Amino acid sequence: MAQCAGHYIMMAMNGIHMVNACKEVENRGVWCGEYELSSCFPNPSIDPFTSGCFIPTTRNSFAMSFRYNKVLILGATSGIGYALASKFVSTGTSVIVSGRRQEKLDQFVSEHGSKGNVDSAQFDITDLKAIPAFAADIFKKHPDIDCVWINAGLQRSLDWTDPDKGVDLAKLELEILTDYTSPLHLAKAFLPLLQKRAPKDTALMYTTSGLALVPILPCGNYCAMKAALHHLILTQRQQLQDAGSNVKVIELFPPAVQTELHDAEHGDKGKEIGMPLNDFTEEAFAGLTSEDFEQVAVGGAKDFMGFSSWEQTRQATFAKMTKMMAKH
Ligand SMILES: NC(=O)c1ccc[n+]([C@@H]2O[C@H](COP(=O)([O-])OP(=O)(O)OC[C@H]3O[C@@H](n4cnc5c(N)ncnc54)[C@H](OP(=O)(O)O)[C@@H]3O)[C@@H](O)[C@H]2O)c1
Repeated sequence: MAQCAGHYIMMAMNGIHMVNACKEVENRGVWCGEYELSSCFPNPSIDPFTSGCFIPTTRNSFAMSFRYNKVLILGATSGIGYALASKFVSTGTSVIVSGRRQEKLDQFVSEHGSKGNVDSAQFDITDLKAIPAFAADIFKKHPDIDCVWINAGLQRSLDWTDPDKGVDLAKLELEILTDYTSPLHLAKAFLPLLQKRAPKDTALMYTTSGLALVPILPCGNYCAMKAALHHLILTQRQQLQDAGSNVKVIELFPPAVQTELHDAEHGDKGKEIGMPLNDFTEEAFAGLTSEDFEQVAVGGAKDFMGFSSWEQTRQATFAKMTKMMAKH
C-alpha cells in the first residue's frame, strides 16, 4: 500500500494501466474504486481524482456513509426501512428503529446492536395525539438525532367498477391517515426539534414513490396520497431553503420493491412484486450518499416514471412560479 499526495491511498496495482484507490470524502468515509491511469499520473502536486488522471471504470463502488450521524426511522420493522437501517449501521451511522411490531424491533437490535449505536422505539404513527409527546421523548433520550425519516406506509386496493366491494372507505381512510395525515403531524412535531439543533445541519426525510409521479389503476388512493405528500415536500423544502433553515428535506422515490407492502392485498405473491430489496437498497444508498441526495429516485422511478425527464420540467415551472410570487 502506498500513500500518495496525502489525500488518497493506492491499494494495489492491477497491471500497468489499472489502480484500485480510495479517497476520504468530507469525513463521511472512504470512496473506493477501480480506475484507469492516464498519462498525467503520477504527479504528486495534483489530485488524480479531480484532474482526470484517474478515470473511473464501470466497476467503481462506494463505501461512503450517510451525511447524518443519527437517524430516527419511522417504519423500520420490515422492507425498505429495515434494509436501509441495516445499511446505515454497517456504514457507521447510528439508528433508532421504530414501528408497531416489537418483535421486529427486537430482531433488529439483536442483529445489529453490536455493530454500532442502535436503539428502538415502538410507536404507531396513526396515534396522532401521541405524536408531540413521542417526538419530545425521543429527542430527550437522543438529543443528537440529526435526521428523522418518515418511511412508514401502507397500500390498499381501490376498484371503482364495483363500489360495494371495491371501495372500502374504512380501508381508504386508514391509508389516508397513515400515508398523508400522519406524516403531516410528524413533520409539525419534529421540525422544531431539528430546527433547535441549528447551526448543525439536519434533515427531514420522506419516502414517497414513483407512483407520486404516475398513478397505476389498482391503488388510486395510495397514488393520490403519495402525490399529495410529494407536493407538500416540494413546498416544505423551498420554504425552509428560502428561510436559510438548517433542515434539509429529502425525498426518496422507490419503484415497486419486493417488501411486505403488497402482502395485505396480494398475499404470498406480494413479495414477488418489484425490484429485489437488496438491489433497491444499494441504489438508494448510493443516491443518499451522493451530491444530489435531496431527491433520490431509484430504478424505474428515475427514468421510466419520469423523475429525470418531465418531473424536472415541472419542478423548473414550480421554481419560476415561486420566484414570480416572491415579487408580490
Ligand atoms: N415496496 C414498494 O413497492 C414501495 C414502492 C414505493 C414506495 N414504497 C413506500 O416505502 C415505504 C416503506 O414500505 P415497504 O415497501 O418497506 O413496506 P413494508 O415492508 O410493508 O414496511 C412498511 C413499514 O411501515 C410501518 N408502518 C405501517 N403502518 C404503521 C403505523 N401505523 N405506525 C408505525 N409504523 C407503521 C411498518 O411497521 P409495523 O407494521 O411494524 O408498524 C413497516 O415497518 C412506504 O412508505 C411505502 O409506501 C414502497
